[in-house]
Formats: sequence, structure tokens, C-alpha cells
Amino acid sequence: MATSGSRGSLLLQAAQLIPFVSFFFTLLLFAAPTVSAAPIRVPDLRECELAVDASVTGPPMTLTLNCCLPIPPQSPINFSFSQYNSEPRVRQAAHKVSEDYIAKYTRAYELMKALPDDDPRSFYTQADIHCAFCNFAYMQAGNSSVALQVHFSWLFLPWHRWYLYWHERILQSLLGDPTFSLVFWNWDDQRDGGNVMPDMFVRNGTALYDENRNQNNLPPAVVRLRPNSTGNDTAIVNQNLNDMYLDVVTAITAELFMGGAYRTGTDLTNSTVLDAPLGGLLENGVHNGVHVWTGDPNLPLIQDMGTFTTAARDPIFFAHHSNVDRLWDKWKYDMPDGPRTDHNDSDFLDAEFYFYDETATLVKVTVRDSLDNSKLGVSYPTMDTDELWINYNPPVMSNGSAVNAARAAGIATMGAAPQNGTIFLGSSFSAIVETPSSPQPDTSKATVLVIQGLELTRNSFVSMSGFINLPFATALTDTSSAEYLGTFNFIPTTNINFRHLTANFKFDIADNMQRIGIENETEVLITLVITGVEPVSIQGLLIEYE
Ligand code: C2O
Repeated sequence: MATSGSRGSLLLQAAQLIPFVSFFFTLLLFAAPTVSAAPIRVPDLRECELAVDASVTGPPMTLTLNCCLPIPPQSPINFSFSQYNSEPRVRQAAHKVSEDYIAKYTRAYELMKALPDDDPRSFYTQADIHCAFCNFAYMQAGNSSVALQVHFSWLFLPWHRWYLYWHERILQSLLGDPTFSLVFWNWDDQRDGGNVMPDMFVRNGTALYDENRNQNNLPPAVVRLRPNSTGNDTAIVNQNLNDMYLDVVTAITAELFMGGAYRTGTDLTNSTVLDAPLGGLLENGVHNGVHVWTGDPNLPLIQDMGTFTTAARDPIFFAHHSNVDRLWDKWKYDMPDGPRTDHNDSDFLDAEFYFYDETATLVKVTVRDSLDNSKLGVSYPTMDTDELWINYNPPVMSNGSAVNAARAAGIATMGAAPQNGTIFLGSSFSAIVETPSSPQPDTSKATVLVIQGLELTRNSFVSMSGFINLPFATALTDTSSAEYLGTFNFIPTTNINFRHLTANFKFDIADNMQRIGIENETEVLITLVITGVEPVSIQGLLIEYE
């Protein structure tokens, strides 16, 4: 009796548990994006993984990458503005500096390259810092099963700002000149000579030269901010202006521009459609575009700039990122609609990183302390040519709504995830998508097309461009018009654990709809164009106010 009684009560307990279990799973499902929400903390540098990588093109090969960082004997210190008081300095455009400045800049890199590899200030270690935090050398503090990654999220801009700051301080100290500053590669300038590889970096045999670059893209080749863009130089210039306009001017929210949340526990190698963060338009659009355009497509890893592992082995990297950093300030302070605000979530503000200072001491910094460049002593000149993309006026190619014609031609409607299975995009995919039925609430700013749960394998370069009202768009379509929404460029990754990507993509479509005159339509026609050979699928399309 006693036995059967206890068995019975066990059964009862199990039955009672069921609602709790399902409640628990429901919680898990809906809480997924913020599980164990806490800011990213500095990792334990003693726990470093050798990254096992494989080539992305050419003959298959496996590489073991060691980007483990040296651990200085002195203990890490916390950053403070008083201790690291910096001389105010203006970073100049690379195509405008004098021969004297180029000589000094070259000398600075000669000195940095002459340091022994295991010196934290050496060019070698400086490049490894980038590899370490993009190639999963370290696990997140407090979450040893999830790798730490500083790309593809709101960490991208602050981390790279700090990276430049310490790199620049080391160069200053090597030169003994606290007024020395990095230059910026003004690739967004489409008129005055900024949109080619700067002359100072292409002088063969100097410390600023890197032979691992696309030899077809040396000067006078004009930068393609969307690496697959076609046409003559005039066509490229207009397409570049539109990419700048979309990635900076119309990307009005912090999430659209700089990417979404990344906290302790966020796992980029294992995301689902519900919790799939991806970096913002600046990172995935023009920033990645310039990386891919610069790297050598004939090398197995598209070195140096075309893959994160090696990108910072090219001195042009730091000039490229100075421009990215400058554009963050442009976005924040100089847009026609007035100042814009960074994320203000405490998990963003309190996120921490390690860098080495000019004495090779490890310094702990926070995102909060990076947000005001003037406190770091850094500023950029106003470039007249910024106005060309800030005021870019994309021409309208289409005439009225394209929805009825598309429906008559058999194009289906697609809603939010989950749909009936995943949808493979092929090289071009069109669908009719409903716009939100209620009017835009006062609290929201953007009308956002969410491409939900996009999946691909980053074995080779892939891009995804969005169009509205243009059902026949292909990879050859000129992207200077108002029907173009922007492009996400996916840099191939050598890290086998990180090749699979699931992410939600966001474009602000309000400005496009207004220019075309379809802002009051209940449905719009969306076309997604894929370049590259990797199959790409999505799980749904949604238009919402954010
Ligand atoms: Cu850390 Cu331009 O990437």
C-alpha cells in the first residue's frame, strides 16, 4: 500500500508539474533576448582558445589561429579621464595631409612594427586584439559557454572607438608626440578625391603599405561602398551617395544605425528568429563594403581587410575605422532632423573592454566613457563633401503602387514568422507585405521592414539588397534610386563555429515610401536580391513602427 500510494502521489506531482513546465518554457521563449541580462564584462585573458579555422575559398585547409593576447605583469587598471588626459587633436582626411605628415605617420608605424611580437604595443599584437574579439578567442565573463564578439551589435562602434584611441596613444608615445593623430579614409567623399585608396597607404615598401589588397582596386579605382555595384564612375558615385544616405541619414534609430542589444548571454552562434541580433546599417552596409572591396579576393581568406581575423594587419584598417568613427559623430550631431541619441540601456553603457595603454598596462574601459569623443580629445574637421550624401535626393524610378501588377503576375503575400517553413530566396525574391494598420504612434520614429530569421552560411562573400516597388530588381540594378533600401554585406568568416548565421535585418522604409508616394498604401512590394553562391532563406517579413 505504501508503495502504490507513493507511486500515486508521484504521478500526481508529475501532472501538477505540467503547467509549471510549460509556463517555464513559455517564459524562456519570450525572455530569450534578455536571458541573464547583464552588461558584457571583461573576459579572463588567461582562458584563451586557439581558434580552429578553415579556408573560405581555394583549396580546403584548416588553420589554427592563435590570437591569444599577452598578459602584462602589472595588474589591470580602470580608465579615468584624469589619468588619461589627452591633448585635443583633429584627425585629418588621409587624402589631404602633407608629405611631412605622411613621413611622420610612416615613421610611427615603422616604430610600432619594430617592437617584438609579444609586446602589447606591437603592430602584431595590435592586430591580434581585433582577431581575439572577432574570432572567439575568449568566452564571455560569467558565461563560459558563450563566446565574446564585438561585431554585429551595439558594441561595434564603442569597441572600435576605444581600439583607435589606444592604438593612437601608443603611436603618440612611440613618436614622443602627444599631438599625433590618426588620419581617416574619407571614402564617403564622392567629389574631392576621398573615394580611392589613399595615396599614403599605397606606396610600395613603406610601413603603411600592405600587399594583401585587391590589386584591381588600387588608385584610381573608385570605392564601391556596395562591392557588387556596377556601372561607370558616375553611376558608382551616385550609388555610393545613396548607400551613405541610407546607412547614416535615414537610419534614424540607434538600433537601425548601430545595431541591437548584446548582453552577457547573447549567443551569436546560436540565435533563432526570436533573438537574432545583427549589427546596424553602418556596420553591415558601407563599413563591411569597404572591407570586402579592399581585401584580396585571390587569397584564400580574402586577406587582409576582407576577413576579421587579418583585417587589422593592414594599416589602412585604422584609417578606415577612423572614418566609421567620424560617421558615428556625424549621425549623432549633424543630421538635418537634429541630434540623435545613442542607446541608453545600462547593459550598453556599462559594457566593459580591455585594451593596452602606451605603457603596455591593461586598462578596463566602459562604453559609457566612449560616447563623447571630445572627452577623449578626438575631433574631425567638417568635410564639405558630407553634404553631398546628407542631402542626396534619390530619383524615383517607379510609378504609383506596384502591388496590383505584382499580384496579377502571381507574386504572393508574405507575413511575419512563423510562415509555413523557411523560404529560400534564390537570387531574387519578391513578396507583397502589409503595412501596419494603425497609425504611427508618437513614440516611434521609424517604419521598419524586418527581414526575419535570415539564414546563411558565411563560406564566401554574400550580400542582400532590399528594394521597394521594384519587382524586377536584380544584382545588376542601379541602386541610386528611391526604390533601393540598402544592402547588408556579409564578410566570409574563417571560424567554423561562426559560419552559420541567423539574424533579423532591419531597413527603415518611411523615406522611400514617401518619395515614391506610397506612404498611405496598405501593402507594398518588397524585393530582396542576393549575390554570392550561398543559399539564403528567411522565415518571415514584417513591417512595424519602431
Ligand atoms: Cu572590427 Cu571593420 O571591423
